Amino acid sequence: MKRVLLIVGGGIAAYKSCELVRLLRKRGHAVRCVLTEGASHFVTPMTLAALSEDRVYTSLWDLKDEHEMGHIQLSREADLVVVAPATADLLARMAGGQAGDLATTVLLATDKPVLAAPAMNVRMWLHPATRRNVESLRTDGVRVMEPDEGAMACGEWGPGRLPEPPAIADAIEAMLNPTGRPLAGRHALVTAGPTHEPIDPVRYLANRSSGRQGFAIAGALAALGARVTLVAGPVALATPAGVDRVDVETAREMAVAAQAAMPADIAVMVAAVADWRVEERAQKTKKGETAPDLRLIENPDILASIAQSPTRPRLVIGFAAETERVVEHAVAKRVRKGADWIVANDVSGDVMGGEANAIHLVTDTGVEDWPRLPKQAVAARLADRIAAALGD
Ligand code: CTP
Repeated sequence: MKRVLLIVGGGIAAYKSCELVRLLRKRGHAVRCVLTEGASHFVTPMTLAALSEDRVYTSLWDLKDEHEMGHIQLSREADLVVVAPATADLLARMAGGQAGDLATTVLLATDKPVLAAPAMNVRMWLHPATRRNVESLRTDGVRVMEPDEGAMACGEWGPGRLPEPPAIADAIEAMLNPTGRPLAGRHALVTAGPTHEPIDPVRYLANRSSGRQGFAIAGALAALGARVTLVAGPVALATPAGVDRVDVETAREMAVAAQAAMPADIAVMVAAVADWRVEERAQKTKKGETAPDLRLIENPDILASIAQSPTRPRLVIGFAAETERVVEHAVAKRVRKGADWIVANDVSGDVMGGEANAIHLVTDTGVEDWPRLPKQAVAARLADRIAAALGD
């Protein structure tokens, strides 16, 4: 029996915490609940006490508890701390390290893993402040689930719904039992970001890749238990929790780092590798009478060489950034590069550097069109598909 400390935030989805408690009890876990002030407007301590068969805690200022147990002990007695629903306000307070009430004090004091299941209006979820808070929490090691997409209580549509209680219960189970995670014991190589190809000591050729999709995929694979080596081109992004990162600049450096990471079970090549490098000059080119000619030399194809190497990973996945005839080019690219799957995206819009991605997954059995999703959600879905493919 494991002990879950469930912190219920103050949102309309708080009623689903009752179902979550019931599911966890059914799976044999002990659940102790902490309600924020807001949560007690949506669900009563009485309901949760009856379902959890335990006392429910609501206030930091209950002197009896501070004498008998204390907020520190409350946070340490659990095997896992779960925040569901994690409202925008609660996520912000967690990210800021605040400790103004019992819920945030427990979260700041705990030495146990923390899982947050967000629920809020779509605009609040997509707001740059919430994006920032979620990114900091993930960097701090908190596992923040992706909310579900759909119709919301406020009448709007989009990502922001609380993941269904069975999905939260599965995520809890995976964290309570890490070796049971579907990619435990697997090694994944992920390349991400652009490459910079020097022209001379001060100039370089580059592209618009932000690295966000590749970083999200590395994080999603690590969350499923994989050991992840992330070979990153020049980007200013935080390393996702549980990921080993190797920073490189050029395509040739990326090729060397990718080869050095072998053997791997999975390779996901998300980097926008420069196809060509410049015949480099040792000195800075001076402004002269005529513009200099740049002679371009082809770079090594990292995806193709990994796919054709004797230590080929079991699953090799490439990305295809296309601006026209997206699926047609991706289908041809899968065969040409020797990849198992190609994730094709249309980069004629604002995908490069943007927040969302509409992709087509090209496999040996056909093409799947995925809806436009935030890059984190594309990553989570792809990681689940990878786990399912390797589990077969
Ligand atoms: N890729 C790679 N090494 C390269 C070029 C590309 O590993 N030197 C990988 C990318 O990481 C991506 C896939 O190959 O997974 C496809 O990249 P893309 O640039 O779309 O393909 P190209 O081979 O460059 O084809 P084209 O530019 O003709 O579309």
